[in-house]
Amino acid sequence: MTMTKAENRVPLRVVNLECTFPTRGGTVQAVSGISFEVRPGEVLALVGESGCGKSTTGKAIMQLPPPTSGSVEFEGTDLTSVTGSSLRDIRRRLQIIFQDPISALNPRRKIKDIIAEGLVIAGVPKEERQKRVEVAMRQVGLDPANGERRPREFSGGQCQRIAIARAIVVNPTMLICDEPVASLDVSIQAQILNLLEETRRTYDLSMLFISHDLAVVNSISDRVAVMYLGRIVEIGDADSVYRHAAHPYTNILLDSAPTVGDVVRPPSGLELKGEVPSPLNPPSGCRFRTRCPRATAICAEQEPVLQEVRTEHQVACHHPVVDPDLPNNERPHV
Ligand SMILES: Nc1ncnc2c1ncn2[C@@H]1O[C@H](COP(=O)(O)OP(=O)(O)OP(=O)(O)O)[C@@H](O)[C@H]1O
Ligand code: SF4
Ligand SMILES: [Mg+2]
Repeated sequence: MTMTKAENRVPLRVVNLECTFPTRGGTVQAVSGISFEVRPGEVLALVGESGCGKSTTGKAIMQLPPPTSGSVEFEGTDLTSVTGSSLRDIRRRLQIIFQDPISALNPRRKIKDIIAEGLVIAGVPKEERQKRVEVAMRQVGLDPANGERRPREFSGGQCQRIAIARAIVVNPTMLICDEPVASLDVSIQAQILNLLEETRRTYDLSMLFISHDLAVVNSISDRVAVMYLGRIVEIGDADSVYRHAAHPYTNILLDSAPTVGDVVRPPSGLELKGEVPSPLNPPSGCRFRTRCPRATAICAEQEPVLQEVRTEHQVACHHPVVDPDLPNNERPHV
């Protein structure tokens, strides 16, 4: 079967994305030249500690606000160059779900109107709007009879269902989820994750899934990108990253999630040093070097670039962790 042009397209391609914020104390380097793509139907997880630039990346993709430099290509269109109705149409196909569902929903509006917002913007007639809102509500496990109620009458988990309904009602092709379960009770998290996974399959969505929690990410992602202080330090097939984490930082992060799915990881023996440096003044060379137990002189002098360590798995490190059981454990720069 020949693929059509649209099917052939990478849904999202981010190249050299840079986001800086001028502040009184200097320029915050929130995201410093990251590149990645999200492939058709896949879930790419973006993980890392608080402040590493995950939300800034998600918002810059949505052009809210646009990045300082770099390009964001969505289904073949460079978003940094489109405006007006084209941008509105793209925003329909590219939806975002935020961490705190309660503050993301207008408290004064009925939930059926909140869910219908995107349909109103798209000029969908009222009758069809009502039908589609009902279908979306059922899809996320909400009773359409509750459409007249307002967000404060719902729990955090139900509000996240409302946010998911609002996103899917416009038939998007891609969803950015920014810590969608982080504010929810642990008992509710699995339900919402399952709903997102089910939604992804039903609508054949591609997804960028932002989280600081590697255990959460494992159940849902095909590939993982690990961020540290505005840079991607490791990216690859989720299974490969969990089983053969090559960056010292990824290894340390994984020590706090020793059992992920059916993978049980022995402790890496590596420990973080010091504090997270200020994004106003990141370290020279490798940004992780002030906290890295494996750092040597070259780490301060040369910025490590992403290089393939295994198929579909890249790491940016001068001294990557090599697993001893691999048949071929040659690594670049070891
Ligand atoms: N509008 C802004 N003005 C100044 N600094 C900002 C702004 N937005 C983000 N930052 C800074 O940029 C860095 C990255 O922030 P970001 O919110 O993207 O991190 P994050 O990885 O999403 O963190 P978290 O896990 O806490 O949500 C932080 O140092 C943050 O303080
Ligand atoms: S490049 Fe050096 S400092 Fe950076 S993670 Fe690798 S070993 Fe550590
Ligand atoms: Mg964030």
